[in-house]
Amino acid sequence: MSTHRDMFAVYAIALLCLVPASRSSPLVCEKLVHPLDQMDPHRLEGRWALVAGSLSHLPSTEALRLRDSITMYFSNSSETSNFSYTQINRFGDQCQHLPYNITVEGSTFTFDVRNRFELTGAFLSTSCPDCVVMRWVVKSKRRQSVDMYLLSRRREVEQREMEEFRAQLKCYQLPAPVVMDSTKELCPEQPQSQPTAAAAQIEETTEEQKS
Ligand SMILES: *[C@@H]1O[C@H](CO)[C@@H](O)[C@H](O)[C@H]1NC(C)=O
Ligand SMILES: *[C@@H]1O[C@H](CO)[C@@H](O)[C@H](O)[C@H]1NC(C)=O
Ligand SMILES: *[C@@H]1O[C@H](CO)[C@@H](O)[C@H](O)[C@H]1NC(C)=O
Repeated sequence: MSTHRDMFAVYAIALLCLVPASRSSPLVCEKLVHPLDQMDPHRLEGRWALVAGSLSHLPSTEALRLRDSITMYFSNSSETSNFSYTQINRFGDQCQHLPYNITVEGSTFTFDVRNRFELTGAFLSTSCPDCVVMRWVVKSKRRQSVDMYLLSRRREVEQREMEEFRAQLKCYQLPAPVVMDSTKELCPEQPQSQPTAAAAQIEETTEEQKS
């Protein structure tokens, strides 16, 4: 059901791209908005660095700019398509761990956010060999946002890989990306110590911004 909805959205957007200002866009967009047929779970496992992100929701974009680095860990639970996903945001010397369960079906995924809001999306094609491009659709009472993220095993990608991501964003009519500072350290997978009150405070604020 959600797969169909998603496919419909993709086609609708592909159609939008067929009415472009420039002549080269339709074919380019058709390829760039194409979701992967299947996300190989093994390919997803492990650590990823957020290289760049673009969000249709402006306040959330500003929240992204405040983070020094973002690390994303995927680990699968045996033969199921249920993954645990941990996002670790660095704010200066603070690391904020946000664990979620996520279900991957083909190229689409759904976050288990316990009915606080809806977070679904798809993995899109990319020519970058060690990257993942994710499109998130966040829906809550207060906001609806389409986010696109470029993740890589590397901290920085080649210029042409970034250009491809920028072109994908244009196809979705999303703003130019926030490019993360690759010199800022990533946070470790496991929290070093018990979260402090300050970290809990950040988490609350972020949850607010997310929902
Ligand atoms: C992920 O799942 C595969 C089987 O589909 C298994 O071989 C692998 O060990 C799993 N990895 C983890 C970290 O559980
Ligand atoms: C995977 O997650 C979905 C959604 O949370 C759940 O309905 C399903 O039972 C889970 N499957 C397994 C095998 O854990
Ligand atoms: C993820 O799923 C497992 C098994 O169903 C559960 O024990 C755990 O609390 C869930 N974690 C989160 C962050 O929802």
